[in-house]
Amino acid sequence: MEHPTANVQHGSQYSAIAKTQTTMNHPHVAIFLAIESSCDETAVAILRGEPGEAAEVLASEVASQIEEHREHGGVVPEVASRSHSLALNALVEKALENAGIGMGNIDVFGATMGPGLASSLLVGSTAAKAMSCVSGKPFVGINHLEGHLLSPFMNRTEVPRHVGLIVSGGHTLLMEVESAGKYKKLGGTRDDAAGEAFDKVGKMLGLPYPGGPEIEKIASSGNPTAYDFPRSMMQGGELDFSFSGLKTAVLYTLQKEPKAKSADIAASFQVAVVEVLVEKTMRAAKAAGVNLIGLSGGVSLNRVVREAFTKRCSKEGFELAIAEGSLCTDNAAMIAFAGLLRFFAGKVDPLDGDIGPNLRL
Ligand code: KG4
Ligand code: ZN
Repeated sequence: MEHPTANVQHGSQYSAIAKTQTTMNHPHVAIFLAIESSCDETAVAILRGEPGEAAEVLASEVASQIEEHREHGGVVPEVASRSHSLALNALVEKALENAGIGMGNIDVFGATMGPGLASSLLVGSTAAKAMSCVSGKPFVGINHLEGHLLSPFMNRTEVPRHVGLIVSGGHTLLMEVESAGKYKKLGGTRDDAAGEAFDKVGKMLGLPYPGGPEIEKIASSGNPTAYDFPRSMMQGGELDFSFSGLKTAVLYTLQKEPKAKSADIAASFQVAVVEVLVEKTMRAAKAAGVNLIGLSGGVSLNRVVREAFTKRCSKEGFELAIAEGSLCTDNAAMIAFAGLLRFFAGKVDPLDGDIGPNLRL
């Protein structure tokens, strides 16, 4: 996995701490506090972990900014970073209170380092580094995508070999997972992410931001066969995705038929996305020779998505692990979980490591 802090030079005021933080013997029990602030949710979670045991979520707090961004029809970076900095202190205190512990009980601090909005990532990562610096406890930087990818396995004692599909607002990624930390990309989107397509089509239909849940709502009373929208890049063994053609097809339909029933458009659009997601994931799982599929990210909250994967997996004899509802959209529990696994693998990061707005998995 590419990591933001892998090659940093230790030349800053933090150099003494940084040098002692890059190697650690395999630790045992740890209480991990993580901050997630990559986009429009400020989140803090505290997890207790022990190698070989399922992680225990002691607290998981999320302060959503959706209402603030709704009036702009999407996320405004400056509004997001200011809201993160305003919400964070109280959220850390709330997490400690709900976990029933004090700051002194935290063994490791961590934060999302990327991908995401630079100014938002800086707020969470700087706060976590500051707590690490003051307490003298280690810091672990976490890739947001690794958080999503591992989120279906938080209640297990280890991350099993599988193919994972991340479907969020920023990413549509198919990964082969050998074990925690060992990943190979099998496919990704060439243009819009699945959640982004939901949000853009939602906007075209005049629905509030974010469009995903709104489309799901109105689609339930629509006819999914009313419009035959394109399913792109389905030929051969292609594992990449493209959703911009589908989005454009919806736009042209609305221009041609301004009185088209929104529910029918939404249902036909949704089924087109779902069919592509399911088909490619099954292909990837077969090509990788795994019998387990993991599903994560905001779009995996969608009931039609969940049902389609459940049905197809049971028909074809695959086990399906879907992240629990509260772990699908952005949260810090998944970040703390990925951080704990990195920490237990002996990895810690220097305090002078940079964020990675375009960080890849
Ligand atoms: O994982 P997430 O919270 O943030 C990113 O890392 O991007 O995902 C947010 C995305 C948004 O695009 C949102 O519209 C979509 O997940 N989403 C849904 C549903 N709930 C959230 N899409 C379809 N159906 C839903 N029920
Ligand atoms: Zn996310």
